[in-house]
Amino acid sequence: YWPVDSNVDNIEGYPRIAEAAQYIRDNQIVAFPTETVYGLGANAHSDEAVAQIFKAKGRPADNPLIVHIAEYQQLEKLVAGISKQAKLLIDAFWPGPLTLIFPKSPGVLSDLVTAGLDTVAIRMPSHPVALALIRASGLPIAAPSANRSGKPSPTTALHVQQDLNGKIAGIVDGGATGVGLESTVLDCTGEVPVILRPGGITKEELESVVSDKIEIASNLLEKTDAPRAPGMKYKHYSPSAPLYLVDGEVDWIQSLINEKRKQGLKVGVLASSETKQKYQADLILNVGSRKQLDQVAHQLYYTLREFDQSHVDFIYSEVFPQLGVGVAIMNRLEKAAGHHWLIQDKQD
Ligand code: TXA
Ligand code: MG
Repeated sequence: YWPVDSNVDNIEGYPRIAEAAQYIRDNQIVAFPTETVYGLGANAHSDEAVAQIFKAKGRPADNPLIVHIAEYQQLEKLVAGISKQAKLLIDAFWPGPLTLIFPKSPGVLSDLVTAGLDTVAIRMPSHPVALALIRASGLPIAAPSANRSGKPSPTTALHVQQDLNGKIAGIVDGGATGVGLESTVLDCTGEVPVILRPGGITKEELESVVSDKIEIASNLLEKTDAPRAPGMKYKHYSPSAPLYLVDGEVDWIQSLINEKRKQGLKVGVLASSETKQKYQADLILNVGSRKQLDQVAHQLYYTLREFDQSHVDFIYSEVFPQLGVGVAIMNRLEKAAGHHWLIQDKQD
């Protein structure tokens, strides 16, 4: 466990960063903060190192990892080509919460990273601690989110510890992460760029940079079982108790809560600052203001994990407008709910 003050001058020369980087070079796995969520990092060239990530997370081997870099020059060695569109997006959004899919250079990265695909996902994070760690290790770092597979991604070092204690070499603690949701994953290997996972960078922001329209992967729209990003087929981000999305008036949601409580169940509500006072339940958590969706994104995973701490039997979650980062918020909530929705019949 290495607490690090991200504001120190010359963070790359900071002894704890150097120590963590040495573990990466020794093919051990280390958790570290990024601007989105905490990652679990390994030397992306090494099968031995990358295999430990899958083992510690309990992650299926067919779900590929994102490779994290700190310099543009690293990218050129890892990929077989950089399209014009990709270059525009890199100039606009790197370092930052945008992951791009490229055709990979053969024989450079561990095949475990890419799960046997001929493409590779790469991003340059903007968190100073993440950049310092990558630079100090001198390696591209493969890193999924540092949670047990199926749990909400970690936004604090404590979350990482709760999930992975004893399974990893260490945690670089840079405090709470910023965005709070994972990066946007964009496939620009085809003619039209396709969003495989909505995230910190919105579709509108992407479209303002490339002249073409950006598509959204069809399985995100239709809820079919044919994922383009392999990770999208697994149940994700879930607290232990069943979670239902509820789209309706507060009074109607309260009547659902009352029914469950009559059955002797402890009910939690994921509410907003506008509505939290209006419910009666066993645990009411405020995820942020409906008018500040950045705040909701920042607190979403933290809030989902809070429900686990208090052992509720059942969770109802309000829904949020699908605008800007709201698209990513609702994508994660839908997964946490296993796509279970309850919608109020407006004639009631
Ligand atoms: O914000 C983030 O992206 C965080 C931080 C740590 O950087 N990382 C993260 O990694 O969320 P992970 O492993 O939890 O999610 C990676 C996603 C998965 O949905 C995976 O299927 C997709 O990226 N992916 C990776 N390589 C791919 C490829 N070659 N083609 C399509 N999708 C890919
Ligand atoms: Mg993840």
